[in-house]
Amino acid sequence: MRSRPADAGHRSRGLISLFIGCVSASYTDSDEEDDVSPREKLQKSTKGFDDFCVRNINQAPFGRREIEIAEQEMPGIMALRKRAGDDKPLKGAKIVGCTHINAQTAVLLETLVELGACVRWAACNIYSTQNEVAAALAEAGFPVFAWRGETEEDFWWCIDKCVNAENWQPNMILDDGGDATHLMIKKYPAMFKMVKGIVEESVTGVHRLYQLSKAGKLTVTAMNVNDSVTKMKFDNLYSCRESVIDSLKRATDVMFGGKQVLVCGYGEVGKGCCQALKGLGCVVFISEIDPICALQACMDGLRVVKANEVIRQVDIVITATGNKNVITREMMDKMKNGTIVCNMGHSNTEIDVNSLRTPDLTWEKVRNQVDHVIWPDGKRIVLLAEGRLVNLSCSSIPSFVISITACTQALALIELFNAPPGRYKSDVYLLPKKMDEYVASLHLPSFDAHLSELTDEQAKYMGLNKAGPFKPNYYRY
Ligand SMILES: NC(=O)c1ccc[n+]([C@@H]2O[C@H](COP(=O)([O-])OP(=O)(O)OC[C@H]3O[C@@H](n4cnc5c(N)ncnc54)[C@H](O)[C@@H]3O)[C@@H](O)[C@H]2O)c1
Repeated sequence: MRSRPADAGHRSRGLISLFIGCVSASYTDSDEEDDVSPREKLQKSTKGFDDFCVRNINQAPFGRREIEIAEQEMPGIMALRKRAGDDKPLKGAKIVGCTHINAQTAVLLETLVELGACVRWAACNIYSTQNEVAAALAEAGFPVFAWRGETEEDFWWCIDKCVNAENWQPNMILDDGGDATHLMIKKYPAMFKMVKGIVEESVTGVHRLYQLSKAGKLTVTAMNVNDSVTKMKFDNLYSCRESVIDSLKRATDVMFGGKQVLVCGYGEVGKGCCQALKGLGCVVFISEIDPICALQACMDGLRVVKANEVIRQVDIVITATGNKNVITREMMDKMKNGTIVCNMGHSNTEIDVNSLRTPDLTWEKVRNQVDHVIWPDGKRIVLLAEGRLVNLSCSSIPSFVISITACTQALALIELFNAPPGRYKSDVYLLPKKMDEYVASLHLPSFDAHLSELTDEQAKYMGLNKAGPFKPNYYRY
């Protein structure tokens, strides 16, 4: 069986929770030192249920409170739970889930069950499980197989337990990173053929699905929810707008007013970062390779420069390009003492961190996720999270953002499960725009936002259905 890639902890927006492994509130750390593997323990809930494997079922009450807190900030998925609860659109769905297991995904899982589904759930990341949440789910009677700090072997064992169980033929997969799909294809091909649909959340998993489809090996319909407009906007623009400041402050206690900041890349993530930085009074410079994004930056009142023009003077450098070696050793040699350097893009190669591992430089760990890299003359730069995504490493993602993702996932499952034969082929699809609009609409009431409605005359004039979709597929929001 394929072994887990080295970047397993970084993938996916599933990334969602590199952070969860790092910073989420949890009192489970102490018993993580417990040597006995959960697989060797006799496990039973207070009601005698034993089809699960978690670190410590006694943590369930604490996990339940965490789930209740998450529910407060996840209005969309809670609204969906309420609206569709009577219809049970997932009645008969048997879902194998492989996602991060935390308070927010617990809200999704419990919603799917309210909508009629049966589920079995494993974690998609060996570090991100909130043990107390897994315990709460098990206590509530969900077959959950996950704990923080699983070994590679545990990881696959847990997924296997979700796929291969007595009286259980899964017909849907909810994946984040493609591992449940992978295991079923490789180990249970006959079972996989019976699956009606796959919903995949991560960049990596989606990429694999497209590769399978291209090779003609995808025998099931898959929905790429990673690229749904609503999810994208929240993950890339709005979430980064909030978390960039939070992560920098937590890591360095920096004051932003008046600081000179270079942001490399003015895409969705870069735009989000700049809005926040400007709001706090920073002087923001942008480096861009794309004239359209560069012009947008100009229109937004930002100075567009080559990185080298300002590298000696800036206080903070943030990369957000998705590219590699955007900040080189040569640039870092030129930076002034105390410059904070961090990355918001997917890969940890945007900043050439490896080039800093030379004998002439000293690394000093200052805090968790904060290193001083010291030059022979005493100059030091402050490197955050060793160049990995700073917000996911040093901050957290708002539950509201995950509410958007969770709604998108739930609606994709409903759509695939209920689609009449012939609507979809064995290929990878995006969520229909109407559903993307529905995800957004589910979140409007929490802002007391009131949508205008098209009149018949207006709808005719615009050539639109009054109920949407309101934009063509090529529309850029
Ligand atoms: N930190 C997070 O929470 C988070 C969330 C979503 C996405 N991401 C990641 O952030 C990265 C950016 O995402 P996005 O949605 O903004 O992408 P995007 O494509 O909209 O923007 C990236 C921008 O960088 C520019 N660019 C590329 N190479 C450059 C270079 N050498 N110098 C200057 N500019 C350059 C591109 O022209 C583009 O405008 C991706 O890697 C994405 O996976 C991070």
